Amino acid sequence: MTKLIDGKKISAQIKEELKTEVAGLRAEGIIPCLAVILVGSDPASAVYVRNKKRACEYIGIESLSYELEASTTESELLALIETLNQSAKVNGILVQLPLPEHIEEDKVIQAISPKKDVDGFHPVSVGNLCIGREGFVSCTPAGVIQLLKRSGIEIEGKECVVVGRSNIVGKPMSILMLRENATVTMVHSKTVNLKEVTKRADILIVSMGKPKFITGEYVKDGAVVIDVGIHRNEDNKLCGDVDFDDVAEKASAITPVPGGVGPMTIAMLMENCVNAVRK
Ligand code: GUN
Repeated sequence: MTKLIDGKKISAQIKEELKTEVAGLRAEGIIPCLAVILVGSDPASAVYVRNKKRACEYIGIESLSYELEASTTESELLALIETLNQSAKVNGILVQLPLPEHIEEDKVIQAISPKKDVDGFHPVSVGNLCIGREGFVSCTPAGVIQLLKRSGIEIEGKECVVVGRSNIVGKPMSILMLRENATVTMVHSKTVNLKEVTKRADILIVSMGKPKFITGEYVKDGAVVIDVGIHRNEDNKLCGDVDFDDVAEKASAITPVPGGVGPMTIAMLMENCVNAVRK
């Protein structure tokens, strides 16, 4: 019987725990505060930002919203980040990506103080993760670890294959699984015999950006399959990188899309915001 890993339920649990923690902080007069910056009017980004602000409100985190024109210059954005870095009130800074083409993403990420880097994208945060030091961890891969742990799935000693090598998901994901003592293999678009490698996985984590690419043929019987992809198909329905119906027949546990990894990203962002208070 395949187990459905319910990201909606697990993220709701985490948000409840955080709400209680924030109530305690507020009782001490501490109000966590997240600054959210959106440049331009990308509709998907606007939805993400709205959901992040809603989650803040629910948990009791104050959110400051900066909605800037697409024509905002790089130096104007950097100046705002510097003001927020210096602000005693602001604990976390989030710049929604992608940015308009005339703004260099890397420069913006590096401008955020590592003490307020709740996205975990700053090179200092990435470095801390790699050498096992305390620091902010990218929200989506941190959410996958919570999904596995809270579903009672053992990680230590397991063969884990991560499909995709992005800075936001694949790379930090593989480091986190290594930290949990899995044996980790990363595969990507240039991997030869992809299927042979993915079939070795006890835990298969897919973040490759290709709708329904991973079918049952890529999966070992009894594997745990985590789908980080999100796409709209021809019928305007959401789907992941994994062909859910096909893979569910072989997997021992699987995340759905929607309702799997997606809701975890915001829950982990909220956790980073609460932890930012102590930095
Ligand atoms: N755009 C897509 N995902 C993310 C994310 O996790 N953080 C930010 N800042 N922008 C994004």
